[in-house]
Amino acid sequence: MHRSVATDKLFRMVRKLALALALVASTSVVLAGTPANAWSPPGTPGATGAGDPYYPLDGNGGYDVKHYDLALKYAPATDVLAGAVTIRATATQRLSAFNLDLDGLTIRSITVDGRSAKWSRAGTELTVTPRASLSKGHTFDTRIVYDGVPKVIHDPYLGDGGAFTTDDGVIILGEPDVAQAWYPSNDHPSDKASFSIALTVPKDLQAISNGVPDGRRTSKGWTTWRWEQREPMATYLAMAAIGKFDVKSYEKNGIRFVDAIDPALPPETYARVAKSFAREPEMLRFLSGYFGPYPFRASGGIVDADGEWDYALENQSRPIYTPQDFANQEDGDSVVVHELTHQWYGDSVAVQNWRDIWLNEGFATYAEWLWSEHEGLGTVQQNFDRLYATPATASLWKAKVADPGAPNLFISAVYNRGAMTLQALRLNVGDKKFFSILRTWAQSQRNGNGSTEEFTALAERISGKDLSALFTTWLYTPSKPANPA
Ligand code: ARG
Ligand code: ZN
Repeated sequence: MHRSVATDKLFRMVRKLALALALVASTSVVLAGTPANAWSPPGTPGATGAGDPYYPLDGNGGYDVKHYDLALKYAPATDVLAGAVTIRATATQRLSAFNLDLDGLTIRSITVDGRSAKWSRAGTELTVTPRASLSKGHTFDTRIVYDGVPKVIHDPYLGDGGAFTTDDGVIILGEPDVAQAWYPSNDHPSDKASFSIALTVPKDLQAISNGVPDGRRTSKGWTTWRWEQREPMATYLAMAAIGKFDVKSYEKNGIRFVDAIDPALPPETYARVAKSFAREPEMLRFLSGYFGPYPFRASGGIVDADGEWDYALENQSRPIYTPQDFANQEDGDSVVVHELTHQWYGDSVAVQNWRDIWLNEGFATYAEWLWSEHEGLGTVQQNFDRLYATPATASLWKAKVADPGAPNLFISAVYNRGAMTLQALRLNVGDKKFFSILRTWAQSQRNGNGSTEEFTALAERISGKDLSALFTTWLYTPSKPANPA
């Protein structure tokens, strides 16, 4: 919210008075014999991290982002991304300075509430010092003008994320902390916000992003594509897909579907992608039968023929897939079900900390098993049994699923043993209670976050059972549990 001019004046008067009082106070301190400090504005700097044990520098403290407005122009000839992000946030403490996360790129200017601010950078931490401190509860707009070629962040354990140039554009995606490779942000899932994303590209290209399309305008050979993601979104789930796509946009069951398929795909792959995407409304209906209403007003999917990343990602309302995900029809359908399930578990209910990742991947894998059963391709129990048959020495049994360690966020045990944990829970509490737990989890944490502790507490509350032994065994003990069947 903006203060009126009159309130602003009053604020300045009060601040002057406070300054005068502070000077008097510091003078008396000097008289008392303590060394005088150089005057610094009241308030303290926000923390440099959100407190994630795996990624201590991800996110920041002292404020809560409400909205990101991204207005970026992409030039394929140079791969330069240039523009501005405006971040509306509310101070949760009196702030003398605050941090944003940004990896690479060149900052041209920063303003806070329209007045130029000082800033400095150290590694991925950007420190912004406004002219005057920001009082607790004050909602302020930080506008950062910047440009550069966004990088690919290479992670030896997790794989690559960031901006992948393609034959005709760029795809920007990644997990867990690559938002900072393309826009300054409070880059941790615990601080979700709504997004407006405007991408300006040469007029022969498409620019797809999250949420509902909000029109496009062409002028002097460039087209600006506007996207609105109103429901709160974790920073890593924002994406940009720029290139030549066949775009299909339609509304069904009150949801805006936008699918973008690269016409350069081999025809057989293209056909399989189109067939899987055509089933998205049916898949959402199937999944909402278990999890409750679909949480967003938009959906869809994106496949580019090119690109060097090797995973599908659950970008909010519009996942991105690789051509390899569609090597055959069943696997293609299954990965689409997986990423659509993340819309409930992962996106709408985001992890509180990254160690909670099984709440995303275990649930999405479990949904693949539900779909497999529905399609007559093998029951949930058969999927469980196939994995349970793995020898006790296998890596599946060596992981601590609910605290796998940062390098192991995406190891297969997080997916498979995570899903097995849910089946062990189902066998213990029965179908009715089990599906009530899944549904209540999605609904009670909707548009928010959730931790493993909150999930296990919910499961105990709904089942009326002490489940500590079950969860300790399946989530925290690095050995093969007894067969619950
Ligand atoms: N969350 C993605 C999925 O749906 C996987 C992301 C893998 N990320 C990575 N950096 N390797 O399974
Ligand atoms: Zn997943």
